[in-house]
Amino acid sequence: MTAQLDTTYVLVCDLEDLAVGTPALADVDGIPMALVRTAQAEVHAVHDICTHANVSLSEGELDGCTLECWLHGSRFNLRTGTPSGPPATVPVAVYPVAIIDGAVHVSTTPIATTEEPRS
Ligand code: FES
Repeated sequence: MTAQLDTTYVLVCDLEDLAVGTPALADVDGIPMALVRTAQAEVHAVHDICTHANVSLSEGELDGCTLECWLHGSRFNLRTGTPSGPPATVPVAVYPVAIIDGAVHVSTTPIATTEEPRS
């Protein structure tokens, strides 16, 4: 039996298309997202554009559960979107991910955070 997802979820790719530890850029219904596979069956999705400047976070480096912006080094928590320190001060939007039967589905509705994310 296949789990039911709400209509905000979009089929993006197969899990095997994502290498562990290597961020990938995806267009999810017109939203640029950085997809990050951090473990065999764990994928995170955040808005691809750094909240400090127009830089692609999918070109950054993974460090634990943070994604480091390559330009000035702010590190965004992949679960909360919150930057660990300046120059970025605003969190990036975080999107729910569901892995079903080896396929990665991402919602276009961001997870609510305590601060207003860029979306
Ligand atoms: S552009 Fe990302 S931290 Fe400055």
